Amino acid sequence: MQIAVIGSGYVGLVAGACFADLGHDVIVVDNDEKKLAALNRGEVPIHENFLPELLHRHRGTRLKFSDDLETAVRASSAIFVAVGTPPTEHGEADLSYVESVARGISGAINGYKVVVEKSTVPVYTSDWVRKIILRNGAESEEFDVASNPEFLREGTAVTDFLYPDRIVVGADTLRCAALLREIYAPLADGTYYLKPDAIPRPDRAQIPPPLIVTSAKSAELIKHASNAFLAMKISFINAVASICESVGANVQQVCQGIGTDSRIGPRFLNPGVGYGGSCFPKDLMAFRAVARECGYEFRLLDEVIRINEEQRSRFIRKVRSALWTLRGKKLGVLGLAFKGGTDDIRESPAILLIQALLQEGCQISAFDPAARERAQEALNSNVTMTEDAYEAARGADALLILTEWEEFAALDLKRLKTELKYPIIVDGRNLYDPEVMAAEGFTYYSVGRPAASPEPTPSPAASTRVGKGTRS
Ligand code: UGA
Repeated sequence: MQIAVIGSGYVGLVAGACFADLGHDVIVVDNDEKKLAALNRGEVPIHENFLPELLHRHRGTRLKFSDDLETAVRASSAIFVAVGTPPTEHGEADLSYVESVARGISGAINGYKVVVEKSTVPVYTSDWVRKIILRNGAESEEFDVASNPEFLREGTAVTDFLYPDRIVVGADTLRCAALLREIYAPLADGTYYLKPDAIPRPDRAQIPPPLIVTSAKSAELIKHASNAFLAMKISFINAVASICESVGANVQQVCQGIGTDSRIGPRFLNPGVGYGGSCFPKDLMAFRAVARECGYEFRLLDEVIRINEEQRSRFIRKVRSALWTLRGKKLGVLGLAFKGGTDDIRESPAILLIQALLQEGCQISAFDPAARERAQEALNSNVTMTEDAYEAARGADALLILTEWEEFAALDLKRLKTELKYPIIVDGRNLYDPEVMAAEGFTYYSVGRPAASPEPTPSPAASTRVGKGTRS
């Protein structure tokens, strides 16, 4: 099938490349000339596993890049809208890019087409997109508007797309649903997975994935509700971690105990410095705004957001309790991206924490395997970026772990200890076993677990309660 994807951001580019791998002919449209030129030159603008392979495989054949919306729409049976929906100052999603694309599509309709929302949008957007297309001259029988939300995570976006837990198709007519079923048939009937060059199957994937057909409005809600639920899981476990710290319990054991209940499940129960990224913070605010507009005060979401913000303050208090005063302290920081496996620093807890620590007068050397350049810009050169983790630790009063990169969980601890001025680690991602760290000679603080130290440990309550001055 001929498909147009409007917008070459994370979602658009990954969707375009994956549709091409399913055997469709895809035109990705963007109005950013520079980005298009880079894509046409073969550059890969985002750090995403398997994306370089897919772009290399299909670029110029099944996958084309263009700035010509009209031609792309005319040529295509399905138009996926994957443009940005940034938050307004009141937290609602700004849908002006979606509206402008809808206007553009309207003028180019030349036969039945399905216009598919792929960006995360509030409920009722499909109604509005339909109205705008009609207002601008298209006939009602010439098109349908569908919602086909994406559940991909940055860093694993390609495998999430090709091995999804489910495919959600929000279509209000049979014709529209049939067209979307056809697009996803290689995944839903499993034929994609038989291809010798299929992207390798990740461990947990169930194939083939179920394809769930709903109304467009339900699909819009599924996306917001999914992200809100996942963020709620994270804030829930962060709140439990705080209680663990107060009573000297171990949140990892608590997680094991609750996560094995199949109704709860173990995933997204990792405590840390709070969630970040371009999705959860924005989508929670947008969902709250949608609810408010419908007359429902979704106070649970207020609390999810509040716990997330507080998690960063708790972390700063923990650093302070490890070092006593902060002014003039030299800190090594591991991790700048909002999570491991990506170079994205949008709403990154690591960046927000570094900014807070700079304000406290700390000097910071930081390392991230992928996000250094972006972070350097955001931090206005106030942080020394290093070539590796050991250099970040060199001469530091303490080392902070802020992003869950796999390589940060496999450091040479003996070397790390010789690099640090004092062997103190404050781990915001629980990457190490406290006992192992103590045995290796570190004073080690993490989230929701008792602090560990090579010296005789004080009573659990005193060693773990944030703000209790457990300076070593
Ligand atoms: C999230 C969702 O997981 C995707 O399903 C969704 O499609 C996407 O948003 C989106 O709406 O586009 P993503 O933002 O890439 O994906 O990242 P996640 O892996 O969900 O992580 C979000 C944040 O939560 C990160 O800062 C991560 O470190 C944090 N996190 C995650 C935790 O603190 N604990 C956990 O157990 C899991």
